[in-house]
Amino acid sequence: MSELSRSTGRSGEGTAGPRAQRIEGERVVLREKRLSDAELDYAWRCDPDLARLDAAEPLKTPFSTFLRRYQEDLRFPYLHWHRLAIETFDGKHIGNCVYHNGSGEPNEAELGIMIGDPQYRDKGYGTDVISTVVRHMFQDPGFDRIYLHTLDWNIRAQKCFSKCGFVTCGELVRGEYTFMVMELRRAWKRGRVEGSSPTAGQEKAGCPPRS
Ligand SMILES: CC(C)(COP(=O)(O)OP(=O)(O)OC[C@H]1O[C@@H](n2cnc3c(N)ncnc32)[C@H](O)[C@@H]1OP(=O)(O)O)[C@@H](O)C(=O)NCCC(=O)NCCS
Repeated sequence: MSELSRSTGRSGEGTAGPRAQRIEGERVVLREKRLSDAELDYAWRCDPDLARLDAAEPLKTPFSTFLRRYQEDLRFPYLHWHRLAIETFDGKHIGNCVYHNGSGEPNEAELGIMIGDPQYRDKGYGTDVISTVVRHMFQDPGFDRIYLHTLDWNIRAQKCFSKCGFVTCGELVRGEYTFMVMELRRAWKRGRVEGSSPTAGQEKAGCPPRS
């Protein structure tokens, strides 16, 4: 999952929009984060392979510090941030996804996903998660565009997002890393009548900077 900067302030409890979510896909359930997720989340944040896929450094802080911050995040979530755990139907926590519209553009949101458990990658779970969360997000009439960033060499992620209708709309270079920016627009979901989907790479403008 892209480590997205948190430009917005924290909310008080219960003031960050509807948070009691449980969203069902065909193979996964997306649910609110809880304290019991902390141990696995910590292990994933410390995993060098996952960090590399996220263009990040593995976490080095001790679990106690991570847990304190985690509790704070649960109690006072950042405004406009929706952090969801990905579970299989038998209740196994296999990863996380997040979306937020803290970029300053109220009608668009950035999406991120991470399937932490390697046994659950390449089996269609990611595609189900993205399709499910996109369907959920577009139920909010305020969202017209969903975008995400992925490293240019992460073909598996790009393929997963393409299968869900995302199209490459630009590139972003940050230091030694190059990210593909991919987007999905509400208009394309409406039977492609209004504003049909461009072919990959065609649309270079309109990609916001990585937030
Ligand atoms: C990226 C991620 C969310 C994708 O979810 P997933 O469940 O593994 O993906 P899916 O199985 O739904 O789809 C992956 C597709 O890529 C294909 N694929 C995998 N590796 C590939 C490769 N090297 N070249 C081409 N295609 C590849 C798969 O065959 C599959 O396509 P298919 O269904 O047509 O066969 C997940 O792998 C993940 O979280 N990985 C670790 C973290 C990560 O990469 N984070 C970055 C996200 S921006």
